[in-house]
Amino acid sequence: MKNRLVVVVFLSLFSAVSWASSDGVVLEHMEPNLADKASLQKGAKTYLNYCFGCHSTKYARYERIADDLQIPHELFMENLVFSDAKIGELMDIAMPAKSAKSWFGATPPDLTLVTRLRGVDWLYSYLKGFYQDESRPWGVNNKIFPDVGMPHVLHELQGIQVKDCGDAQSETDHDACTDLKLIEGSGTLSAEEYDQVAFDLVNFLHYMGDPSREYREALGVKVLIFIFIFFIFAWFLNREFWKDIH
Ligand code: HEC
Repeated sequence: MKNRLVVVVFLSLFSAVSWASSDGVVLEHMEPNLADKASLQKGAKTYLNYCFGCHSTKYARYERIADDLQIPHELFMENLVFSDAKIGELMDIAMPAKSAKSWFGATPPDLTLVTRLRGVDWLYSYLKGFYQDESRPWGVNNKIFPDVGMPHVLHELQGIQVKDCGDAQSETDHDACTDLKLIEGSGTLSAEEYDQVAFDLVNFLHYMGDPSREYREALGVKVLIFIFIFFIFAWFLNREFWKDIH
């Protein structure tokens, strides 16, 4: 009985945390890969080209990212940074929060820690969740973040998605439906290519939320190996000490 209770509690926690957003929309799962430097580099490029105009990542410095992602400083500054910022500066942007609020109805939040706050599955699903909705100021809505104030900035790449509600008759059924269909050929990328762009971008923002994660995990393994080898010596030494006493 007790065991069953534990299993139920565990499963309900698991499903709430990793598969569903707060309003019950099912999230798409993605597994970040910090060892894939090419993916992180492509994610940084997409981020700096498409997101950084509105969002800041002001707890990070350009230099750290260039170094961690193994991009030479000069190449990084020439091709990815479009302001006269210096490499040692924090990644703040010039857009004043007040005007942003009047333009978009909400201030674009800083994205340094967004994957820590929302989770990678949420962000991945969000980037794939924009669909056409003429009633919204930017002509798009988002199934993960209803009535979002952000335009679909990657629509050129992905194309246009529309609600695909089949036989939903009533208006409430239609509103509740979250199935989306991509209009073939409306974007410059195929569905798989867009998924890859979204993956790389989320992978990069996952790195950004905890830049030392890879180093820390690698160090953790080395420390465990050290403790294991040390244990062998300690065990023999211990045996040596006690030998004469017994
Ligand atoms: C034209 C300006 C603009 C651009 C470019 C832009 N965003 Fe946004 N973004 C916003 C605004 C405004 C909001 C706030 C929306 C709201 O609260 O309704 C927002 C919200 C978000 C949120 C939700 C954050 C939260 O926790 O509430 C995420 C995630 C996000 N943006 C990611 C991105 C990514 C990734 C890109 C690049 C692909 C991007 N944005 C490009 C304006 C922008």
